[in-house]
Amino acid sequence: MKKDLLSLLDLEREDFEHLFKRAMKLKERHQKGIFDSLLAGKTLGLIFDKKSTRTRIAFETAMIQMGGHPIYMSTQDTQISRNEPAKDTARVLSRYIDCLAMRTFDHALVEEFAASSTIPVINALTDSFHPCQILSDIMTVIEHKGGYKGIKIAWVGDGNNVANSWVNAASVLGIDLILACPDGHAIRQDIVDAAGADAMDNIIFTNDPKDAVKGADVVYTDVWASMGEEDELEGRLAAFEGFQVNEDLLAHAKDDVLVLHCLPAHRGEEISEAVLEAENSAFWDQAENKRHMHKAILESLIIK
Ligand code: CP
Ligand code: NVA
Repeated sequence: MKKDLLSLLDLEREDFEHLFKRAMKLKERHQKGIFDSLLAGKTLGLIFDKKSTRTRIAFETAMIQMGGHPIYMSTQDTQISRNEPAKDTARVLSRYIDCLAMRTFDHALVEEFAASSTIPVINALTDSFHPCQILSDIMTVIEHKGGYKGIKIAWVGDGNNVANSWVNAASVLGIDLILACPDGHAIRQDIVDAAGADAMDNIIFTNDPKDAVKGADVVYTDVWASMGEEDELEGRLAAFEGFQVNEDLLAHAKDDVLVLHCLPAHRGEEISEAVLEAENSAFWDQAENKRHMHKAILESLIIK
């Protein structure tokens, strides 16, 4: 049966472990200049209804370096924009391509495509989740901290799609995660419920950023207004006061704290210029790892 990657709850612990190991192996081979044509003759379709720099290019270059071909489609250029039903588009694309990566607003649309496709569907970000991002982020944590067990991760900011995927990952892997979100911007109750009661031993929710970063090994933030929420930014600036990841806040974390951000970043809002430009920052490793992780994901879904 074909597999999809719509949320991190689709994965078991062993799947995560396999992807981390495999992405690191593929990175090592890439650094040695070795490219394996594992996906020769295979085609990845990308249907994106939102902007992207990293995810799109990481998927496209991953596919090319594995000997396959990517085809990028803006939703506007397809018949989807003229109301062709998702279930028809999904069935037709299944006859042309071997895998589909989608970036949409409504998560239900990705689910609808997955249900009607005979090929694997990958969530390349929806309003609800960004699973591929967190897979490469945990890979970055492993590289910099030697693992994720016993590592305290603090999320500071909006209870958004990226945060939701962190909650998913923490519930499967037992990651020590504390999320500080302002009142009114907390993690959705259905995401908390899906994590399950057992996960509440290792996942903590607060509205105090200082409390969250106290003793943290990793501090993670993301924009205060995600794609599609730009009109709300002005109102959000007040709600998120005190939530900026800057040197003052990081003084409460461990001395060797690793700061992560999925990017794009808004300097002077959720993160300060100084933190973003710090010499030993890992943001660029984090972005690079998306390509290696995307290779591992594509391989695991496309090769039977
Ligand atoms: N981090 C991330 O998903 O970036 P893009 O929006 O540029 O793909
Ligand atoms: N939360 C952000 C992530 C961008 C990669 C957004 O959805 O816009």
